Amino acid sequence: MFGLKSSSAQESSPCLLKNVGVSEFNKQHLRLASYAVEFNQLVEELADREPDANDWKRVDALFSRVTLFVATHFREEEEIMRKFDYPGYPGHKVQHDKFVSDLTKIQSQINDRNVKFKGKMSTLLWEWLYHHINEIDVEYREFFADKGLT
Ligand SMILES: [Fe+2]
Ligand SMILES: [Fe+2]
Repeated sequence: MFGLKSSSAQESSPCLLKNVGVSEFNKQHLRLASYAVEFNQLVEELADREPDANDWKRVDALFSRVTLFVATHFREEEEIMRKFDYPGYPGHKVQHDKFVSDLTKIQSQINDRNVKFKGKMSTLLWEWLYHHINEIDVEYREFFADKGLT
């Protein structure tokens, strides 16, 4: 749907995320991107007012969906990397862990009902995902293709 099937389609794809070569991970990346967009829309909606109880409930629900899915995605990527002895695994794992710890910090601001979470979250989520997927994840593309993963 986003032209992720072949490298020639990838080059002309309107999708901002690169094809990492493993279709399940491409799908998960798109889902993460859609959560990031959803989160940014919510943050934008709350830009000019103090969140009320119902707003905080929406923030809680969306943030827990994001963190749960990030954890699932990282676990699956890391499992495959370990299984095939991917040489970039240690550095990649450091990046995942750092992001999870950033999310944990934002989670505690949300738990404290601290509106500062808005500024941090709106840039962190999308920018981190974008750079991580397009610069770090994409590095495993050839390695896994050589192992026959598609
Ligand atoms: Fe990824
Ligand atoms: Fe990754």
